[in-house]
Amino acid sequence: MPLAGRHVVLGVSGGIACYKSCTLARRLTEDGATVDVILTASAAEFVRPVTFEALTGRPVLISLWERDRALAHIGLAKEPDLVIVAPATANLLARGAMGMADDLLTALLLARTGPILCAPAMNDAMYAHPATMANLRTLMKRGWQFVGPEIGALAEGPSERPGRMSEPETIFAAATQLLAGKGPWSGKQVVVTAGPTREHLDPVRVITNPSSGRMGYALAEAAVARGAAVTLVAGPGQLPTPPGVAVVRVETTAEMLRAVQALVKHADVLIMAAAPADYRPAKAATTKRPRQKGRFTLALEPTPDILALVTRPKGCVTVGFALETGDGLARAREKLRTKRLDCIILNDALEPGAGFEVSTNRVTIIAKGREPIRLPLLAKRDVADRILDEVERAFS
Ligand code: CTP
Repeated sequence: MPLAGRHVVLGVSGGIACYKSCTLARRLTEDGATVDVILTASAAEFVRPVTFEALTGRPVLISLWERDRALAHIGLAKEPDLVIVAPATANLLARGAMGMADDLLTALLLARTGPILCAPAMNDAMYAHPATMANLRTLMKRGWQFVGPEIGALAEGPSERPGRMSEPETIFAAATQLLAGKGPWSGKQVVVTAGPTREHLDPVRVITNPSSGRMGYALAEAAVARGAAVTLVAGPGQLPTPPGVAVVRVETTAEMLRAVQALVKHADVLIMAAAPADYRPAKAATTKRPRQKGRFTLALEPTPDILALVTRPKGCVTVGFALETGDGLARAREKLRTKRLDCIILNDALEPGAGFEVSTNRVTIIAKGREPIRLPLLAKRDVADRILDEVERAFS
């Protein structure tokens, strides 16, 4: 019970994702935390206070003007080990960034000097709006920590852009990490890609490769264990999501590019462990292509090179992979340079125990300006830790 004896304030602002905050309140309480819930007036329209009172066993606060609770915002700003705001609507972020204090929750946030963990949730266009982006930057500069938002279904339907609140389990994992103390990874936003991508010839046939995604999943798991907030952009595959990792599922290389482009804006680390398909049919048929006698020639066109195209924020540590056959040191060094990487991980697809579909890997880590480090055959999870050691070196 890592939260035993910890005091958490859970601020809930008025968005449909409020229903997930009930699960979060329960999860925090079950883990031993004392949880005081503060609702904004709009949040109380979505979920009645009695629901949170039953889940936490404590009275819920809404108004600055409740009797016997004068100055509740000052006490509650100072006392708790952590303040979580989930969901944080666009309006709440705007009020927070402006330093407004027109209800109990914003008054508390203004009086707060300790850690604040914030899980934004809103319509995707509202999230992408320059005003919201500016507010986020302001709050980040002031030390607010963020988890999500993620790409996925919104109340109004499916979306390919961020806006959806992270799942309660992901917010819970971020909260426990924050409370575990400050290491070099705490508060770091990490984006990892994993697995193959798939390009359709027609509705029933695809071009793909045998990548299982294991290396990327191991990296995501290792980064969460170090205290980072991790989003995994995963191609098709069967692997279970590591706890505490937010996952964005994609199918094609173009979809992976779009997801990475959206997520990398606030990333401190980008690790491209995926094996995206390099070519796609120049023309995909919309109906199944019938079998015909004779040879079938398929015209292919290149897919976008994700690493070459994404604009990474200044200081974002970027790691790529080079899967080669034979002595690939020169080719890996070339990719390190042309793809503007801080580090590249070379592995040989033909070497036993390395490459696709196995749980081990034998890699050479080539960091910019350093001698290559050739590692022995290791479990992918151990390889992941050695790679993260190299990223950590780049932080300093
Ligand atoms: N990569 C990418 N976008 C692609 C293909 C690859 O960002 N469309 C990334 C991979 O995730 C990896 C790095 O680029 O981190 C190198 O991938 P690799 O397949 O080894 O190199 P390519 O650039 O595809 O070149 P080649 O296939 O000719 O070796």
